[in-house]
Amino acid sequence: MSLQDAISKLAREAVAKFVEPGQVVGLGSGSTAAVIVREMASLTFKDSLLCIPTSLQIKAEAEKSGLRFGDEGKIPDIDVVFDGADQIDSDYYMIKGGGGALLREKILITSAKAVVIGADSTKFVKSFSRCVPVEVHPLARVSVARKLASMGGKPALRTLDKGYPFITENGNVILDTTFASIPDVRVMEVELKCIAGVMEVGLFTRRADVIYKAKTDGTFETIKPSGT
Ligand code: A5P
Repeated sequence: MSLQDAISKLAREAVAKFVEPGQVVGLGSGSTAAVIVREMASLTFKDSLLCIPTSLQIKAEAEKSGLRFGDEGKIPDIDVVFDGADQIDSDYYMIKGGGGALLREKILITSAKAVVIGADSTKFVKSFSRCVPVEVHPLARVSVARKLASMGGKPALRTLDKGYPFITENGNVILDTTFASIPDVRVMEVELKCIAGVMEVGLFTRRADVIYKAKTDGTFETIKPSGT
């Protein structure tokens, strides 16, 4: 039994519990979201669903699973969004954007009626200990980097293996920014978002309705951040 077994099980549970005929379903990005999308392939009513993908990665997975797509006009009507996370702190705030899909993921997560997150146990921390992805318009790459540094951050331009800048699907760059600490995540999210040229911030303070925590023994735990 492994984390991968646990993720397959939680995907089965998430789809069985949250997907109903006729729904609009938001698809986050990453490996966990991909397992959930593969699980949706076996739904007998999948033709009645309209899916909204957050990246080409997950769109390709959804195509393989034979899912249908809706356009941006359906975003306000999203019933449930399935996604993963890079880190989850003790307040159940998240860092996302490791795959670069943060802007579209934030749009869906803040619009959906229900947010369901799957993450393995290594992603859970007391307080954040990894860099925060900040998506930046290319014109503001230097000015935003300077502003982030003045706020105590250490921004690093995300690059591909050969050193070329990573360009998001929205045509922007990402500054992966390390902060010594983030005393108030909600305040930090707003402060970063207010910098001119910042398109989105990888701090996610809209708590999930359900978080499935995959464990190394092949089981998973169900966490309800709102306590209900
Ligand atoms: C995409 O930009 C990210 O927000 C992903 O959702 C996040 O990196 C989790 O990915 P995994 O499920 O692959 O760990």
